[in-house]
Amino acid sequence: MTKKILLSVFLLPAIMTFAQQYGGMWIPTELNEKEMKDLGIKISVKDIFNSQKASIKDAVVQFNGGCTAEIISPKGLLLTNHHCGYGQIQAHSTIQNDLLSNGFWAKNPQGELPNPGLTVDFIIDIKEVTNQILDGTEHLTEPELSKKIANNIESYKNAQKIEPYQSISVKSMYYENKFYAYTIETYKDIRLVGAPPQSIGKFGSDTDNWVWPRHTGDFSMFRIYADKNNKPAEYSKENVPYVPKYFLPVSIKDKNENDFTFVFGFPGKTTEYLPAIAVEKITKDIDPARIAVRDIALKTLDEKMRTDDATRIKYASKYAYVANYWKKWIGEVEGLKKSNAVEKKAMYEGSLKAKNHEIKSTLDQLNKLYNDQTPFALNNTYYTEVIKNAETLKLANDYYTYITAVEAGRMDEKGTAALKKKLVPFYKDYSAELDAKVTAKLLALYANKTAPQFLPTGFEKYKNEAQNIQYFEEISKNSIITGRSEVNGASISQDIDKAFSNQDQLIKSLKKDPVYQLFILMRDTYMTKVDPQFTSLQSKIDALQKTYMAQQIATDKDKKFFPDANSTLRVTYGKVKGSSPRDAVSYNYQTHLAGVMEKYIPGDYEFDVPKKLIDLYNKKDFGIYKDKTGDVPVGFTATNHTTGGNSGSPALDANGNLIGLNFDRQWEGTMSDINYDPRFSRNIMVDTKYILFIIDKYADSKWLIDEMKIVK
Ligand code: ARG
Ligand code: GLU
Repeated sequence: MTKKILLSVFLLPAIMTFAQQYGGMWIPTELNEKEMKDLGIKISVKDIFNSQKASIKDAVVQFNGGCTAEIISPKGLLLTNHHCGYGQIQAHSTIQNDLLSNGFWAKNPQGELPNPGLTVDFIIDIKEVTNQILDGTEHLTEPELSKKIANNIESYKNAQKIEPYQSISVKSMYYENKFYAYTIETYKDIRLVGAPPQSIGKFGSDTDNWVWPRHTGDFSMFRIYADKNNKPAEYSKENVPYVPKYFLPVSIKDKNENDFTFVFGFPGKTTEYLPAIAVEKITKDIDPARIAVRDIALKTLDEKMRTDDATRIKYASKYAYVANYWKKWIGEVEGLKKSNAVEKKAMYEGSLKAKNHEIKSTLDQLNKLYNDQTPFALNNTYYTEVIKNAETLKLANDYYTYITAVEAGRMDEKGTAALKKKLVPFYKDYSAELDAKVTAKLLALYANKTAPQFLPTGFEKYKNEAQNIQYFEEISKNSIITGRSEVNGASISQDIDKAFSNQDQLIKSLKKDPVYQLFILMRDTYMTKVDPQFTSLQSKIDALQKTYMAQQIATDKDKKFFPDANSTLRVTYGKVKGSSPRDAVSYNYQTHLAGVMEKYIPGDYEFDVPKKLIDLYNKKDFGIYKDKTGDVPVGFTATNHTTGGNSGSPALDANGNLIGLNFDRQWEGTMSDINYDPRFSRNIMVDTKYILFIIDKYADSKWLIDEMKIVK
């Protein structure tokens, strides 16, 4: 321990001069041009973001409010991940015409498929507006502070002159120490152009998720349509392909280790400036609790999915959703331990305290608050995760929200229709029998992990898993909540219509329902014994975190700060790089088609390979898409600091040409959301050569390649 600290003391100043040490997701109007130049960028930061003339930012959009996508042709052709377009691809799929399994390629623009509801957002301008938003807040404390800020944001928005198809979004940075305004333009006619089959686009599925070496062709293509004036419009046959201000040239040059690269997109959420105590709680308490709940849910689902095909299909998408963050958290905990995140933070706090005595008091208070909050935070985690993953309880929660709204006179036809619309697909993909097992086991976990003072009355009897299963299977039989999965197909919606046609009766039966009552008991106990303390401590923590953030910036003059990710447009940069995350293990930065073939398991739901791809591989029919090894490069890693939301983000080279499509991170480095470590943190991208190879050679869609500007 002492040795480690000593070592770090000597090492720290040496590496501190590089912002890279901390990663970084930079606001594109505030880029560190000098460091980017030192690392090898050839273009200027004005080429990346310029509100006055066409720049790279005009080719980068937020896709459907979550992922990122980029324009790669003068006709509005859009590239994003397969897992980002998954919902749309699934929506166009039927059993007879299964686009998920077979892939889809429009033969011409007329064949492109509309997707009602799908939008993309362009960022037209970014302005710092801290002074306007914090005006008159100097002496306020909560709750007046939040009210005043909200008012100022409203007045700011109202004072802006914008087009009818534009909107303004004001976002807080650095825990409300700064504010930025974004002018956004939203396009609404986005059509599906192409997607490889899942056996390419989702190759490796959950087994390979978050894992390097990776061989997934995780891409799909869309096109933005506009009205005849090139402006946003609802879907119409008359709409025409959007002519972008800028589109990305696509490079098929070979990559080399240490090449400069940057990623431009919309990272969702990070927490890089927490005190050591918070990171310790995440590592020791919060993440392990989340993992424990999902461990049980996933194991129980998996047992059934492996032996029953109908269940496997029903639960495939839910399983992937639950497994995604379960796996991320496991990697995160390991990475936090391995990168000594807590000690590193503690050391850093020591150095800050030495420079600024006020920080000691902030940190002392934060330490106390986090410790006081621990039992509540832990129960909050178990409660939310159990309700989320025990489908029956989640459903009871939805019914609870419905009943509360009805009784408060807040439920209208639209609200009822929305709930009914949600229930139909829910019951279609739900097995009451299987969920009874999951719920019963999670109930046992909850009974065992909840401190006695927070345990709902009578919950001691749920501590035994086997007994619970028996009990739960029994009460499920008499429950109208679970009962509906027995009816199938069209009759599910008829059954739901019937139930909702007599609202009073429905509410009466729900209130008598044993599953509903069980949920209410859990909820009431949580809401009275845990939630008030948890939230009140949390708002104190938030206020102090704001202070601590401001103090870090004011005290650590050597460090260049970037605000935590908050789904706004950011640039992260680094180098193409492999890694050696464990003793004797070293990873190359690039994978190839040969690796796809090595992983190939005929007929497997994760590792099957389409016959045509095997043929292309055997014939070595790689066209212009092979690299110096003679094989087609598939994926590569770099030191870019990315997170969820960066899926679909363009990876660009020193000249601003597209070289890859971001879609994941390497497991050993996923703690980068809390503690970026250049030794272990790597983002994972699909190589543009693989994307073009699939479009050209596999999908015979040369017409799409012809639209692009290829850099050889
Ligand atoms: N891990 C990636 C990201 O967070 C990909 C997720 C989709 N793929 C999957 N197998 N679940 O979002
Ligand atoms: N797969 C993630 C996404 O959907 C990106 C991977 C990450 O978290 O870095 O946004």
